[in-house]
Amino acid sequence: MDEEIIVTELAPDALPDVVALCRRALDLPEDAAEAGAVVDALHTRAAADRTVLGLGAYRGAELVGVLIASLSGTDPGLGHVDLVAVDPQLRRRGIGRALLTRAERALAEGGATEVLLAGNPPYYAWPGIDVRYTPAVCAALALGYGQDRTAWNMTADLSYDGSPALRTTEPAERRLAERGIAVRRAELADLPALADFARSNFGGVWDAELAGSVGRPGAGAHLAERDGRILGFAAWGSSRPSWFGPMGTAPEAAGSGIGGVLLRRCLRDQRDEGAESAQIGWVGPVPFYSGSAGARIERVFFLYRKVLTGA
Ligand SMILES: CC(C)(COP(=O)(O)OP(=O)(O)OC[C@H]1O[C@@H](n2cnc3c(N)ncnc32)[C@H](O)[C@@H]1OP(=O)(O)O)[C@@H](O)C(=O)NCCC(=O)NCCS
Repeated sequence: MDEEIIVTELAPDALPDVVALCRRALDLPEDAAEAGAVVDALHTRAAADRTVLGLGAYRGAELVGVLIASLSGTDPGLGHVDLVAVDPQLRRRGIGRALLTRAERALAEGGATEVLLAGNPPYYAWPGIDVRYTPAVCAALALGYGQDRTAWNMTADLSYDGSPALRTTEPAERRLAERGIAVRRAELADLPALADFARSNFGGVWDAELAGSVGRPGAGAHLAERDGRILGFAAWGSSRPSWFGPMGTAPEAAGSGIGGVLLRRCLRDQRDEGAESAQIGWVGPVPFYSGSAGARIERVFFLYRKVLTGA
């Protein structure tokens, strides 16, 4: 690496520079456009729940590389790299390598024996490395990471009125109403019941994503209930405004049409916020999203892992 580049922990007042760097260093426009929300979720909001490490690569006073990493909230032996980006003008000079090497050391000091280049829910911007970030795939391999799983998003088109993603939910809601099921927007007061519902039906993984969606600007959630008992929910915008999820329907209500209604209510919110498309993240039941919203598989991610030597 060039002599004049120094890797150090990010100071709290560096965040505007981090966002500006991500805007020019995330090569995919859909990611660059959401750099502010991504950095806020991965660095600031995540730090309330888990150990977060922010590293900057500096040339003099200029921030030219950034890495955000975290320890898993569920498995203390796992570290995650949540984001890494290097100034496009300064690639292939060892900055990415220096950031990753320093992060591995810090994660090991925090107790990690393995590092994943993969999203660390509930705060994640990508499930893994989008295959179109091919230099990142190359860098992962060069640094000794092995390919683990594959993940994919689906894209729902919100750009025109006739899109299947924006199909009206009214007839389906009428049929549900005949069976005593009401569908409505979730409010802050619903959070405890929603978290209970998600926990008892799907395990305890969605509390933070629900808290990040319900009643927060640029995010939202809808729920279905019968006699005050929740039967399903869908949420959007927790880590990124254009991303949909999570959602869940009680097993007893499966097949009733609740899921499609909740999904399309959220997608309509996202379109009302100005989104031309929505990302259904880290899918999941492809036929359901294809059938209910005409969504198609588009973004594909490779997930990588590396056992730390000496671990
Ligand atoms: C991925 C990224 C951070 C790498 O940063 P970098 O500073 O260019 O990486 P380095 O110079 O340290 O490269 C380390 C090794 O990775 C491999 N590598 C990196 N870019 C490569 C490329 N374009 N083609 C082939 N190999 C590459 C090489 O083996 C390289 O070592 P070498 O130059 O000695 O051969 C940078 O390309 C980037 O910011 N991309 C956009 C953002 C991104 O993709 N982030 C990850 C997805 S969230």
